[in-house]
Amino acid sequence: MKVTINKVHQFVDQEVTIGAWLANKRSSGKIAFLQLRDGTGFMQGVVVKADVDETIFQQAKSLTQESSLYVTGKIVEDSRSSFGFEMQVKHIELIQEATDYPITPKNHGTEFLMDHRHLWLRSKKQHAIMKIRNEIIQATYRFFEQENFVKIDPPILTGTAAEETTELFHTKYFEEEAYLSQSGQLYMEAAAMALGRVFSFGPTFRAEKSKTRRHLIEFWMIEPEMAFTTHEESLEIQENYVQFIAESVLTNCSLELNTLERNLEMLQKIKAPFPRITYDEAIELLKQKGFTDIEWGEDFGAPHETAIAESFDKPIFITHYPKDIKAFYMKPDPDREDVVLCADLIAPEGYGEIIGGSARIDDLSLLKQRYMEHELIGDAYEWYLELRKYGSVPHAGFGLGLERTVAWISGVDHVRETIPFPRLLNRLYP
Ligand code: 4AD
Ligand code: MG
Repeated sequence: MKVTINKVHQFVDQEVTIGAWLANKRSSGKIAFLQLRDGTGFMQGVVVKADVDETIFQQAKSLTQESSLYVTGKIVEDSRSSFGFEMQVKHIELIQEATDYPITPKNHGTEFLMDHRHLWLRSKKQHAIMKIRNEIIQATYRFFEQENFVKIDPPILTGTAAEETTELFHTKYFEEEAYLSQSGQLYMEAAAMALGRVFSFGPTFRAEKSKTRRHLIEFWMIEPEMAFTTHEESLEIQENYVQFIAESVLTNCSLELNTLERNLEMLQKIKAPFPRITYDEAIELLKQKGFTDIEWGEDFGAPHETAIAESFDKPIFITHYPKDIKAFYMKPDPDREDVVLCADLIAPEGYGEIIGGSARIDDLSLLKQRYMEHELIGDAYEWYLELRKYGSVPHAGFGLGLERTVAWISGVDHVRETIPFPRLLNRLYP
């Protein structure tokens, strides 16, 4: 019977066949240990010279890394490995022999690995990260389904800029100028007025010249948008969502977290409610922490976010930023003209901002005024203004960056390892 590694626990003491690649191998005169991987997991196959045909034993000993095989044998429990099972190999059928696989078990430099990303993905660490990424995506769909959101897909080719116009990727749309979406938010606001609670999950593009461990040129964002919802209610959804993600990964990815040697205690602490501090309080905290130069009105960089996060062991919301450093659509605080009803969620352990969100301006004349101030004139925004003309309601939403969340939950320090094929400032290959 043909089975996969993630199901072998159902076949203890039975003979099965697994389609696999040889990840690694150790052998002596009497025994060979094959590290097998089949996409669903990693498992050891043991070939004992005395128990198999001499040709099989010789074949096992000469197998090369990443050769593809069908291996047949009995599944037995193995309490020494974290996986818990191994195969007593009886037969091997070679599908294709791989020669000179470039990624050997020894250490390689990051650029080399990035050049071989199409192969690097096969490694145990990258496999674990991709499984955690998948779990976060699946948890996202489960959470928003449970909370009565409708999944909506905004366009990727757009004529309007949602965030900073300087970061746009320009492209030709026949004769017209178009951009690749930086955020689906404006379309999600339209969708929220049609369906109430909506979320999107899709790729976004930013021509950012930042070369940091938190920035990708192409990244995936989850963007919920909610009608009849206040800023405070939006924060509650955000913290429940992030807690749900952490719990799902803890429950369903224990092998992967173990492979990555993730500190589980840090993940167990991700429980709502999360602390909230205002931008003003954050400035004070930074001054106490030795950032004496920082002035009210300046945006926070990575070192500031890391320093603020160090004071807390949960993710933390920083709220009420100055309106001048935030997007045009954010709703002003009714008690204070100079700040907006927004929040960034900062992850602990130096992973930085994972969510940006706000209440949206719902008043037509105020939105028009913001357009002028931000010099966002043009037909492309007409449809967005109409949302405030026909039954405008208080609404709020946010965007969670998938790769930063994967980096944080997995405990990997650079976002380039959290997406299958990263697009970076100087990388469009492979
Ligand atoms: O804070 P941002 O720019 O917010 C928006 O785009 C809003 N329109 C979202 C909304 O309210 N619907 O981006 C949201 C999140 C950030 O918190 C961060 O996690 C991630 O997207 N992000 C990036 N991730 C990787 N590489 C980049 N260059 C990123 N830029 C933002
Ligand atoms: Mg932001």
